[in-house]
Amino acid sequence: MQQKPLEFDYQSTTPCLQSVVDAMEPYWNEDWGNPSNRQNRSGILASAAMSIARDTLGQSLGINSERLIFTSGATEANNLALIGHARAHANELGKKGHVITMTTEHHAVLDPIKQLEKEGFSITAVKPRSDGILCLDDFNNAFKDDTFMVSIMLANNEIGVIQPIKEVSKICKDRGVILHSDAAQGFGYLPFTIDTLGVDLMTISGHKIYGPKGVGALIRSNDISIHPLIFGGGQEQGIRAGTLPVPLIVGFGKAVEIAINEMENNIVRFRDLRNKLWFGLSSQISGLLINGSLDKRLPHNLNFTIKGVLGSRMQKLLRSKIICTSASSCSNGSPSHVLIELGRTSKEAEASLRLSIGRFTTNNDIEQAIELISEIVQQLR
Ligand SMILES: Cc1ncc(COP(=O)(O)O)c(C=O)c1O
Repeated sequence: MQQKPLEFDYQSTTPCLQSVVDAMEPYWNEDWGNPSNRQNRSGILASAAMSIARDTLGQSLGINSERLIFTSGATEANNLALIGHARAHANELGKKGHVITMTTEHHAVLDPIKQLEKEGFSITAVKPRSDGILCLDDFNNAFKDDTFMVSIMLANNEIGVIQPIKEVSKICKDRGVILHSDAAQGFGYLPFTIDTLGVDLMTISGHKIYGPKGVGALIRSNDISIHPLIFGGGQEQGIRAGTLPVPLIVGFGKAVEIAINEMENNIVRFRDLRNKLWFGLSSQISGLLINGSLDKRLPHNLNFTIKGVLGSRMQKLLRSKIICTSASSCSNGSPSHVLIELGRTSKEAEASLRLSIGRFTTNNDIEQAIELISEIVQQLR
């Protein structure tokens, strides 16, 4: 019987934990009311369940839960933050302005920013240093007189590097500029509150933390105006209309509760497994190049380039054995724009692997992955 491939792709998404599925269960067909309709019992139950989830999320981020706007995921939250705030700003001032981001952001930030450019906003995308981290001097130099918004992610989805958001926030505050951060990859894996980071807008997602797919949230400082992108029944303070997906929100709340309770242990466990993987691979295979800073990095991420192998052949040989990616799962198969920004060639980017560790990764998985990848590289060379 063929063995199941080893799972090393927990940054693309994660499985829903059974306790999350159990928490969601009653809200599909037992307490299936519309939370906006508090005139009947099932509506009241749905609304109460959602409030509990909202409070759990609020507490985990150290904010009043009214600052949360539920969305269909991080992509929508990023669009709402960037396009929604830019349009509101332009409306208030009667003119467009300038936005700063990084070239290594996820497409869920780069693409709405491209849309803003089409609408007449000017954009600067700052390149990272060769270790993937934002250079604060370059960032400072990117400001213009009409800069009104910055979007810098907390942790990178491909190379896992953690950006200096506190320092970025200080610079933005000194200049009176709004800071948005896509924290889809960092939330639940790094200890922070909205205030310790000092961001004005933050994006999070359910399915990166063993919650359901199709739910996320935008956290907003109360005084930041956002034009809605979806119009309708006035839900979520009129900023994001549409009947709320109660089971998904309940599941998101449960996933957050578990992620926060277990974060300290998980950080240690993930980091140990990841380091074991990296030291094992680099002692077996010559010519490995780490992509991104090794210490300023998510505990569960590893990304490296293998010199002297053809990426497409390596992927083919790996496919049935290890589930992992050579780029972000949202990049349609083209070489990773993140690795290219770090200075890798297209060929090197294709011969790169992102291996991400999850709750179900064992020591044995790590040992097997080291052995399998080493064998394949030897075969290819
Ligand atoms: C950093 C980052 N932002 C946004 C997204 C998109 O998230 P969602 O699938 O919740 O829309 C992802 C997921 O791949 C991500 O890693």
